[in-house]
Amino acid sequence: MTDSPNNLKEKPKESPKMDLPLDPELTEAQQLTEGKKRKTNENDRLYQKDFQYHHRNPYHEKLTEFDEFVMRDSETETHLGNWNKEVFKREAPLCVEIGSGYGHFMLDYCENNPDVNFVGMDLRFKRTYNLAKRLAKFSYKSFRYLRARGERIEFMFEENEADRIFYFFPDPWPKKRHHKKRLFQMPFLQAAYKVLRPGGTLYVKTDHTHYAEWMIEHMDKPEALELFDIKLKTRDLYKEAPDHYLASFQTKFEKIFLKKEQPINAFELVSKKEK
Ligand SMILES: C[S@@+](CC[C@H](N)C(=O)[O-])C[C@H]1O[C@@H](n2cnc3c(N)ncnc32)[C@H](O)[C@@H]1O
Repeated sequence: MTDSPNNLKEKPKESPKMDLPLDPELTEAQQLTEGKKRKTNENDRLYQKDFQYHHRNPYHEKLTEFDEFVMRDSETETHLGNWNKEVFKREAPLCVEIGSGYGHFMLDYCENNPDVNFVGMDLRFKRTYNLAKRLAKFSYKSFRYLRARGERIEFMFEENEADRIFYFFPDPWPKKRHHKKRLFQMPFLQAAYKVLRPGGTLYVKTDHTHYAEWMIEHMDKPEALELFDIKLKTRDLYKEAPDHYLASFQTKFEKIFLKKEQPINAFELVSKKEK
């Protein structure tokens, strides 16, 4: 499984807590069914405009300590079309990372590319808080960090607003009943296409064989091929495309997989949108 390798001493997958109280009048069995129903609907609603984040988590409140550069939930959807002008107050290519994790890629990228505006995001509360603490030590002129879900990008960014989207070593959701939670599928590809400018790029890397196969299946669908040119599709990046941009850096999780000699799957999808 991709997330939580032992050497990171992290708890197994933690999905965001959807813990609004259920009706106490319901029997225990009814509460269980109601809870399950909520979770299923939650997944479908994520791509709808009127979706609302609901949770209670102490780290969510603590994130307000960093509100100079951290935004949370619906707050992340209030700058649509205005990230450069309102938030960064400068014109620059806008880069978006989904699942920044411990922030290594985000920080390296910002350091090596001072002339981009970078928006990183992650959905885990404690991890986001810990990364915010780390980010607070840097000048945040060129980045913002969001506690938000990648499924919501089309409500965060205006059509044609983003130049690049990075999606590295995502949670693979290996169990069949969880596949619907995988981000890489048509609604996300459509949202990515919408927010990327013409010629904008979606970069993806994963160690996970089955999620990679799933991604290939989705990017090869006729409706996806209408949106993106597949500029790179490799099951073994360092063997097959060692000179590609994606082979020029390793994320924190990637280093762990490389140590275990796992091949890295990598994809570059370029928007076919016309200018
Ligand atoms: C396995 S970690 C990889 C972190 C980093 N990209 C790396 O390569 O080192 C995946 C991260 O994606 C986050 N994540 C998973 N699904 C997400 C979603 N739908 N939106 C935002 N973040 C998500 C997880 O919370 C986790 O921190």
